Amino acid sequence: MTFEKNILKAAQIIKDGGIVAFPTETVYGLGAGVFNTKAIEKIFRIKERPFFDPLIVHISEIKQLELLVKKVDENILKLAEKFWPGPLTIVTEKNENVPDLVTANLPTVAVRMPNHRAALQLIQQAGTPIAAPSANKFGRLSPTNAKHVLKQLKNIDFIIDDGNTEVGIESTVISLNREGFTLLRPGVISKQDLSAVIRYTDNKFFIQERGLQSPGLLKSHYSPKVPLYILGEEKVNLSNKKIGFLTFGANKEKNNQLVTENLSPTKNLKEAATKLYEALHKLEESGVELIIAEPVPETGIGIAIMDRLRKAAAKKENLAEIVD
Ligand code: TXA
Ligand code: MG
Repeated sequence: MTFEKNILKAAQIIKDGGIVAFPTETVYGLGAGVFNTKAIEKIFRIKERPFFDPLIVHISEIKQLELLVKKVDENILKLAEKFWPGPLTIVTEKNENVPDLVTANLPTVAVRMPNHRAALQLIQQAGTPIAAPSANKFGRLSPTNAKHVLKQLKNIDFIIDDGNTEVGIESTVISLNREGFTLLRPGVISKQDLSAVIRYTDNKFFIQERGLQSPGLLKSHYSPKVPLYILGEEKVNLSNKKIGFLTFGANKEKNNQLVTENLSPTKNLKEAATKLYEALHKLEESGVELIIAEPVPETGIGIAIMDRLRKAAAKKENLAEIVD
């Protein structure tokens, strides 16, 4: 089938209340029409995602914001102008028409306009904003290609396969408040990039007061099926174990005991983000018993990469439970 035919078919499935996996520039998403609560419920079931974890709503044009948020204020427009379409998700007060299932009963909604031809055309053709979490089982590695999606998820109605995603890690999530923004999840668009447009206020009190917790801030997340340790930050017993090594920068040693995936031999953080999940999927599939990850510098995109690695490292117990 041609790309255009795939989009039309997928859009029809969304209109009929089905769910579709599709690429964005960050990771693949699992989408349904935002106002179709039955279809939204199916997403939670297939992902085994708890209902307390709200979804991001994807739009293809600014005008659709009016369907979703209470007030399209100046700050939203400034951010949209500068960063959309792109890997930025904005959390703001919701329009009451947005189903509570999508927002996990929060008074807010998360919205973004993805920078990907398939995602944008799908939303346009379906004629509705599309609510979509990443297309993986809850707590597991995010998918950066169609194969990763199919490895974890069964019973999806359709998948648009448009190759590997470019950015490789999930969007930056921010919450807007009266004074500015708070960072809920780091991504390739940094706090500094955003501060050039609106004021940064680390207003944790505002978040608590309104109950605007972001489950994306959960300590463990994005985990491979085997334990992951960060080199130099944790003690690990290596005896007789088959080890997967996630490296950054030139490979220092050749060791046949190690299965190695290099995120970027030239220490390019953008390249490392693009390859992060692909490398972890490969290590997971290679049959290693544990993964040791070399830390990357915590500047710019490195902040988002280390956020994902630390969350992957936080889950060492009960990994058997999430082995499918
Ligand atoms: O790049 C991305 O953001 C990808 C692609 C598919 O768009 N999506 C994605 O969705 O990563 P998901 O569901 O895996 O992560 C969404 C994050 C979660 O941590 C969720 O808790 C947070 O956004 N979130 C959604 N709505 C929220 C809200 N109203 N308040 C606070 N956090 C919210
Ligand atoms: Mg996710």
